[in-house]
Amino acid sequence: MFVEIFTMSGLGILSTVFVFAIGLFLLALVIMFVIDVTQTHDAVRRNYPVIGRFRKVFTTLGEFFRQYFFAMDREEMPFNRAERDWIEKSADGVSNMTAFGSTRNLNSVGTPIFVNDPFPTLDEDALNPPPVTIGPNARTPYEAESIINVSGMSYGALSKPAVRALSKGAKMAGCWLNTGEGGLSPHHLEGGCDIVFQIGTAKYGVRDVDGNLSDEKLREAAAHEQVRMFELKLSQGAKPGKGGILPGDKVSAEIATIRGIKVGEDSISPNRHVELKCIGDILDMVGHIREVTGKPCGFKTVVGDSGWLDEMFAEVNRRGIESAPDFIAIDGGDGGTGAAPMPLMDNVGLPLREALVMAADSRDKHCLSKRIRLIASGKLLTPAEAAWAFCAGADFVVTARGFMFALGCIQSLKCNKNTCPTGITTHDRRLQRGLDVEEKSVRVKNFVEKLRYGVGLISHSCGVPEPRLLRRHHVRMVQDTGRSILLSDMCRPVGEDTRAA
Ligand SMILES: Cc1cc2nc3c(=O)[nH]c(=O)nc-3n(C[C@H](O)[C@H](O)[C@H](O)COP(=O)(O)O)c2cc1C
Repeated sequence: MFVEIFTMSGLGILSTVFVFAIGLFLLALVIMFVIDVTQTHDAVRRNYPVIGRFRKVFTTLGEFFRQYFFAMDREEMPFNRAERDWIEKSADGVSNMTAFGSTRNLNSVGTPIFVNDPFPTLDEDALNPPPVTIGPNARTPYEAESIINVSGMSYGALSKPAVRALSKGAKMAGCWLNTGEGGLSPHHLEGGCDIVFQIGTAKYGVRDVDGNLSDEKLREAAAHEQVRMFELKLSQGAKPGKGGILPGDKVSAEIATIRGIKVGEDSISPNRHVELKCIGDILDMVGHIREVTGKPCGFKTVVGDSGWLDEMFAEVNRRGIESAPDFIAIDGGDGGTGAAPMPLMDNVGLPLREALVMAADSRDKHCLSKRIRLIASGKLLTPAEAAWAFCAGADFVVTARGFMFALGCIQSLKCNKNTCPTGITTHDRRLQRGLDVEEKSVRVKNFVEKLRYGVGLISHSCGVPEPRLLRRHHVRMVQDTGRSILLSDMCRPVGEDTRAA
């Protein structure tokens, strides 16, 4: 009897809760309906109340699920799954051999096809690329050991554990780490690697209270033995003509101190170095930094046309070869960024494929290939792309996003928010927990080694003992006819290329 009453009342409570829940649900629907038909912001929700909300939900979910369920191996942008997997396996240190055959469409325009030699280099004849001197006229020239290095990404755009892992990994791999435009932090120095100190348009880390370049701060920076070179950033592929942008929620107290700005405020650098108004000014500033610091100095730029480079190289020859920038880093218009406006990212500045060839031609025409080292960046994160750059005229290859993948990046495209799910570009401590510095530093080292090895394989297959001996006649480019032509026929080298002399 008691049990029956108890069961009955239990059922009664359950059905009351159920009816209440349905009632709440219907009420929520009515509220959403009223909100949707009365709001004026979203036409789809106004015309299709409630149901129109699913569009937003599915669009957001699509962003997360496309790469797992729908996109083919070679489809995604900026980097497809095949490229990301290659880096993932390389960084893991496991074999990145693949089976059965290439999944790449070898007929698509711009595919590089390397010219295999009937007599490839034997393993015993292969050479490690020798160190290359950058800045022979500086008081402390830099003997750069590695053909592959870490491109500029600031502490700010990157998290503390990401910078620490890069620093330790770069040391293990024997390559340099570029600070990016946010100044030098203790985390860059921690691993003991070689450092390129980048001077962005806001001159973070080397500016006086009024924002001008400070000789005293330059000397302080150069006093770190690890700082091997200075790079004046003129422009960056993803945003030529726009300075660095670090959204306020990424400006922590430590970052604010290093940069000399306010916590939580957007950190926006000027569109260019205000004191640089002509070619001569660039050479003067490069020379000044080299003189004050005693270390090599060059600049990073995006190329839209090579006329101004021609002018600059002619001026170098007029002033004397020692006035030359010690290196020029050419960044492709398809380069990456922590944050940039889409019109600049998509449509301003030449992709590296055109830009590097133009810059190398201009340099060689003025007989400066031994004096000015070319550093190339812009999607050079697989062996074929990096080997192409050496064919085109590069002395060094640097990559930013390649190293982000080595750190565990999943291309969630959230670098401009503080919500990077892998802890690489966020200052949220909870998310940073996912990035183990020791483990990721080993991945960084493995990635560099596998990339160097892969570029070496291509050069040996082309019959040259090391990558810097690759030339334009070693690579063919697929045309829109489906046939390929030699890069040396597409873009005939002008002047003498004495890179390896
Ligand atoms: C998160 C992030 C931050 C970056 N920060 C800088 C920077 O501070 N200074 C700079 O010159 N370039 C910066 N870059 C651009 C890279 O250094 C590089 O030139 C560009 O991404 C092309 O190389 P990649 O295709 O290998 O990534 C940044 C790129 C990324 C992805």
